[in-house]
Amino acid sequence: MPHYDLILRGGQAVLPWGIEPLDIGVRDGRIAAMGSLRGAEATQEVDCRHLHVLPGLIDAHVHLREPGDAAVETIATGTKAAVLGGLAAVFDMPNTAPSITDSAQLAWKRKYVGEVAYCDVGLYVGASKKNIADLAALEAEENVCAVKVFAGSSTGDLLIEDDASLEAVMRSGRRRICYHSEDEYRLQARKPNYTSGMPHRKHMEWRDVECAMLGTKRLMAIARKTGRPAHILHVSTAEELAYLADYKDICSVEVLMNHLTQTDEAYDRLGGYAVMNPPIRDQRHLEAAWAAVRNGTVDVVGSDHAPHSRAAKERPWPDTAAGLTGIQTIVPVMLDHVSAGRLSLMRLVDLMCAGPARIYGAVNKGRLAVGYDADFTLVDMAKSREITNDWIASPCGWTPFDGYRCQGWPVGTIIRGHIAMREDEVQGGPIGRPVNFR
Ligand code: DOR
Ligand code: ZN
Repeated sequence: MPHYDLILRGGQAVLPWGIEPLDIGVRDGRIAAMGSLRGAEATQEVDCRHLHVLPGLIDAHVHLREPGDAAVETIATGTKAAVLGGLAAVFDMPNTAPSITDSAQLAWKRKYVGEVAYCDVGLYVGASKKNIADLAALEAEENVCAVKVFAGSSTGDLLIEDDASLEAVMRSGRRRICYHSEDEYRLQARKPNYTSGMPHRKHMEWRDVECAMLGTKRLMAIARKTGRPAHILHVSTAEELAYLADYKDICSVEVLMNHLTQTDEAYDRLGGYAVMNPPIRDQRHLEAAWAAVRNGTVDVVGSDHAPHSRAAKERPWPDTAAGLTGIQTIVPVMLDHVSAGRLSLMRLVDLMCAGPARIYGAVNKGRLAVGYDADFTLVDMAKSREITNDWIASPCGWTPFDGYRCQGWPVGTIIRGHIAMREDEVQGGPIGRPVNFR
């Protein structure tokens, strides 16, 4: 009789070709069988009859802040929050304090992730004006998901704003580069128009549509010239989404859960807890983001989880720290969008599993298939639950979705066959590992 380490029994499996009820057998951390496993035995079984079984969901855009301020977030706390929220892997940004920009820091982080992380972690390496010549070697290091370029300034000191330096970055290496795209010159030129204590909604006026569009046009011109593949992170304007549809041969697109969920009314309701870069904008842009999800322009949906202390969020604008938490809420909020009919579960899996795997080249992730890592997100679409600040495991302790009710909830996270979360309880220790990329 066949024996498995783990069998998921009878769930509705979200496969690339449809949703089918089936059993999944796991051996040695990988998917070993899919189909009817009646008669097979396992060391551990999970009854999934009332659940959907998704490939382990991936958030390809998080800031876990380590090294940095442990009172805000660490790799341990952030990955715990991730598994509570139904994520099996996250890709962690390099704008820490100090930033991750060299081989020694990558080596530290790779080893450290293996010691403290509760889910699997991909590592971004930051581009700075000092390491441009090293980027080809750095992006080829183990566990590196991509080079991250801040072409407009945000949190931290990473910035490469001029065309000549951006071209040099694109000529160093060959993998897809991830960009924060806002035009730094326009940002700085307009900054003096704004003074301390102005209302938070000025944030979207300062970092306006033109600022994002200009940044993206400049990046696309250089990407065309050099032939270097690009991934524009957190595309936030209708104008960029229409423009980028003509660059799909060279550029992939990320849209954030926040930009699919919140509009400018949030500034009045949440104050500093609505401030992020690029900013939350009006309804027209939210609708364009959904249209781009539906027409295929969008490849990946991420959270841009960017925790800050309450004190930093409550500083008067424009000194309010920019960034919102999302690592624990992206799955519930996106499931709620599924329940509301805005996208299908299959498209969600495309955006948070297949998309990240394809765009970044993650190995053995993002698909329910024999031989792939046994990563699963178990989802109960019948469960309704409210997100609250006291549920948030990140030490900063707040979410812009406090009081938001979700129809559909992640009730299990399984990572390489380890049950990391069941019914809101983190189980076992820090079994996370660095993700491999091709
Ligand atoms: O809002 C943001 N917060 N946007 C970024 O680009 C960076 C992030 C952070 O690290 O705080
Ligand atoms: Zn970010």
